[in-house]
Amino acid sequence: METKRNSFTSKIGFVFAAAGSAVGLGNLWRFPYLAAKYGGGIFLLTYIILAVTFGFTLMVAEIAIGRKTGKSAIEAYGQLNNKWGFIGKMTAIVPMIILPYYCVIGGWVTKYFSVYLLGNGSVAAGDTYFGDFISKPVEPIIWLLVYIAATAIIVMLGVEKGIEKFSKILMPVLVVLSVGIAIYTITLDGATEGVKYYFMPDFSKFSVMTVLGALGQLFYSMSIAMGIMITYGSYMPKEANIEKSVHQIELFDTGIAMVAGLMIVPSVFVFTGGDEAKLQAGAGLMFEMLPKIFDSMPFGSIIGFVFFLLVFFAALTSSISLMETVVSILRDKFNIPRIRTCLVVLVGCIILALPSSLGYGHWDGVKILGLSILDFFDFLSNSVIMPIVAFLTCIFVGFIVKPSVITNEVKLAGKFKQEKFFTVMIKYIAPFCILAILISSVLNGLGIIKI
Ligand code: PHE
Repeated sequence: METKRNSFTSKIGFVFAAAGSAVGLGNLWRFPYLAAKYGGGIFLLTYIILAVTFGFTLMVAEIAIGRKTGKSAIEAYGQLNNKWGFIGKMTAIVPMIILPYYCVIGGWVTKYFSVYLLGNGSVAAGDTYFGDFISKPVEPIIWLLVYIAATAIIVMLGVEKGIEKFSKILMPVLVVLSVGIAIYTITLDGATEGVKYYFMPDFSKFSVMTVLGALGQLFYSMSIAMGIMITYGSYMPKEANIEKSVHQIELFDTGIAMVAGLMIVPSVFVFTGGDEAKLQAGAGLMFEMLPKIFDSMPFGSIIGFVFFLLVFFAALTSSISLMETVVSILRDKFNIPRIRTCLVVLVGCIILALPSSLGYGHWDGVKILGLSILDFFDFLSNSVIMPIVAFLTCIFVGFIVKPSVITNEVKLAGKFKQEKFFTVMIKYIAPFCILAILISSVLNGLGIIKI
């Protein structure tokens, strides 16, 4: 890498930057639809338990690896033990898979933002609006291209720092607005049922798929098991407290996801009476529900406009950091100039994104393992590759470099309160559980066992 690694100047600067990367469509779009799909309260409970155990452990490990080596994932693993450098290479695949379909959803957000900008918000509240939009052959692709172009232009001009500063101001507004919308939603007629569904765990809905879904979401939302937190760690000053920072990032990320869920899941009960098919709607849920909420509220078209604009920025900072990661991986490897690399990534991203976009509309007959193309990429990265990377990271830290390498790094800034917990988790509990979840979900998927 030719750019110098400059540390975040303030300790809190690190937390903001890492939280900024963590908060994105994962929280606002992905979490609510998974919560609706996997049984509400039981998903929420599983997610929170996984966040404070697996999430905590892996995020501490990744940030410490980054800070210790001062390198990005590709080199960091290899520097600690050169036989294990392949984990770094595996992490590199994840942003390459996520970026294209992230841009498809980013395109949907851009479309909805423009609908509200033109004052057509109430049309978007119609029952068939989303379905009609997505099944058009050309329109979703145009929005996809607009969104990818916005991301690529920012990365090419190298002005992402400017956008990040801007979004740091917007992010708190998004939080406040989401809380406001969530409060509004739960006061609507029929919301009580939905709030119950969202918060009260129904253990009969629990299955291994709930755990796998929650685990994949955890990795995705917290940007772990894809090398990103290693890169962030490499910029972290030595006097900053890793343990505390991880707690803050987790709290922030999970808090926003929970609010987003509270905004969207109960609205399924308000507007459709808790229709099972709607709860299972998947990727379209946010786009189907939010316009109905805005349509029912005073000043809804203005609020909808502001909201989708803010979501657009939250998504943009994430896709910028994803694209930036892919660009720097390729540049380090092939040593080609920045602009040329950006163009290659742009073209590659468009080629990979087109099938994901079409798979929700024109090509909706095309299924891979029973999933639409976008869902397949999503499944491949979050439920297959990331758990494998997480498993390997646990083995690597637990048995190859030994947990003391990590705990000593954490202790540079003072006491590591959960040191014992961390050590037991990373050595014994996390790898075993992740492997068990992975194997049982594969057997389940192949129909060999039924869980
Ligand atoms: N964590 C981000 C989200 O929740 C997604 C992301 C992944 C962003 C990797 C940047 C890098 O949307």
